[in-house]
Amino acid sequence: MGLVEARNLPSHVAIIMDGNGRWAQLRGLPRAAGHREGSKAVRRIVRAARRLGLKALTLYAFSEQNWARPEDEVDALMGLLRDYLLSERNEILENGIRLNAVGNLGRLPALVRAVLDPLRRETSDNSQMTLTLALSYGGREEIADAAKEIARRAVSGDIDPEDVTPETMHSLMPSLKSGDPDLVIRTGGERRISNFLLYGLAYAELHFADVLWPDFSEADLHEAIASYQLRERRFGLVGSGATVTRIAI
Ligand code: FPP
Repeated sequence: MGLVEARNLPSHVAIIMDGNGRWAQLRGLPRAAGHREGSKAVRRIVRAARRLGLKALTLYAFSEQNWARPEDEVDALMGLLRDYLLSERNEILENGIRLNAVGNLGRLPALVRAVLDPLRRETSDNSQMTLTLALSYGGREEIADAAKEIARRAVSGDIDPEDVTPETMHSLMPSLKSGDPDLVIRTGGERRISNFLLYGLAYAELHFADVLWPDFSEADLHEAIASYQLRERRFGLVGSGATVTRIAI
């Protein structure tokens, strides 16, 4: 595993896969070519995550805001998504991976739903690793949906507004069914969160990689995890001093 320690692995890693467009632009290619290369990186990183033994991997594949991109780019992304699900189906089944999807799935075209829905059903009892694709996803939208559900329950008398806690909200977040993300990686050099997993990010460690997503390698994933393993997570409590010692020696 090189840099990575087998113990103290993050349980849930989430990735903002950014930089496909620039990868293509640098080569004078259409943006769709960058997404095609990006889907090869998805295959590579899902395999690497499985080899490491991560329990959950969440990939930001398409945001709610991405629908406003040019139609041919949206179509290319939907086609790649379908191709990915079709080509990886056997490997997902053979390796005990649970394939999940979060977001406004009702907006996805039928050609994607036709392969996504059966695969979600067929893998729902798998437990080696949960691979969650965030599709037509927005963090604010997910929070608003949870608020809507709580309001409905309050109106129907199923919940007293005074009893609403952070845990109530958490239980209504589909993106956090595998637990909060421990480590969020963003590729492509930008340092922002772009409406990803907002509620679950409370105590996540963030890693920004300058490499464009199509070039993101297994070694880059290991580097991100190794950097996570050097950090001391405090969850709002006081530290153990371990980090200070490490810096001093
Ligand atoms: C952001 O790069 C990336 C996306 C909007 C889509 C991510 C999709 C894939 C990696 C491929 C298909 C997904 C799967 C799961 C097979 P960008 O286009 O915003 O890049 P830029 O910032 O360089 O323009």
